[in-house]
Amino acid sequence: VTAEKGGYEHFMLKEIHEQPKAYRDTMLGRIDHANHQVVLPELKLSVEQIKNIRNVHIVACGTAYNAGLIGRTVIEQFARIPVENDVASEYRYRSPIITPETLVIVVSQSGETADTLAALREARANGAHVLAITNVVGSSIARDADDVLVTLAGPEIAVASTKAYTSQLIAFYLFGLYLAQVRGTMNKEEVAHVLAAMEALPEQVEAMLGQADPIKTYAEHIAKHKHLFFIGRGQDYAVVQEGSLKLKEISYIHSEAYAAGELKHGTLALIEEGIPVISLVTQESVMEKTVSNIKEVKARGAEVLAISYEEHAAELLKSVDHVITIPKTLPILTAAISVVTLQLLAYYASLALGHDVDKPRNLAKSVTVE
Ligand code: G6P
Repeated sequence: VTAEKGGYEHFMLKEIHEQPKAYRDTMLGRIDHANHQVVLPELKLSVEQIKNIRNVHIVACGTAYNAGLIGRTVIEQFARIPVENDVASEYRYRSPIITPETLVIVVSQSGETADTLAALREARANGAHVLAITNVVGSSIARDADDVLVTLAGPEIAVASTKAYTSQLIAFYLFGLYLAQVRGTMNKEEVAHVLAAMEALPEQVEAMLGQADPIKTYAEHIAKHKHLFFIGRGQDYAVVQEGSLKLKEISYIHSEAYAAGELKHGTLALIEEGIPVISLVTQESVMEKTVSNIKEVKARGAEVLAISYEEHAAELLKSVDHVITIPKTLPILTAAISVVTLQLLAYYASLALGHDVDKPRNLAKSVTVE
């Protein structure tokens, strides 16, 4: 069994460590270096169709839904197309406004999630073009979609998804750039700039994986708590939603992820002496605002961890109790790095509590009932 796990104690840790390879494999053959562009010859979606897209719906469950939250920011920023995110089990029942100019993107690691499959069928029946981002080529979702963008994460065994999520992010970066090229919303230099940063991600994640000790120490510390909060703004808010889910899934510590600016509208009532607040602070355009939100919880007794870049550590330490640093990338790509810290945090918290990391109670890897 240890051999299957490649020498790692758990599949989850092995899969966290496989992320640099998953990033490279998902990018492989999809970047034309000579012309600084993304090439996705597998797509049937025509240039004409892409130019006509009026709106995008991203539909998925669980961790794949969280990847879609990042997908939204990527498509909106790169291609300037309005995007909505939906949980698959809700999508069909809200009579979504679908036209032939609607692109529906379903995201699913397994390609077998019943709710996602049902949403896909509903979208197609209403005339949308459906693109599936999935890790399993021959899956039901891959077969029923109009187009498939495969993530090359390799088989994921641990129930808590890690490398599938990050590979979905890579797929969204590639697809977002592809839309931008066709629609002319980014020029060659801008695309080249993002591609160069994307190609640096695997090495940056490798470097992080070699320096997990501070994360392990902090995880052992939060394992003593029953409740905690995550906060962030923009991309960081989307990432902490995934971090909070990961922690709940395998450590059973209750946590809530909050948009940092929204805390004062209710949740602040729950902040009491000693409660951990984990703040993800990578978006420099809103950093000052997040720091004021950190001060709001500090003033009410919270113990705050900030996850940010080295260059901000000294300044942040004036307002927080602990800092964990991560490698720097473009603001739009930051999720592919910052989430790794949160995955490790969940892993080590679960380990410290003696839970079954790879097979958490009540959860299934793939849910084939609606
Ligand atoms: C289950 C798993 C989650 C996963 C979700 C969607 O609930 O426990 O980890 O995110 O299904 O799965 P999918 O295969 O569609 O990505």
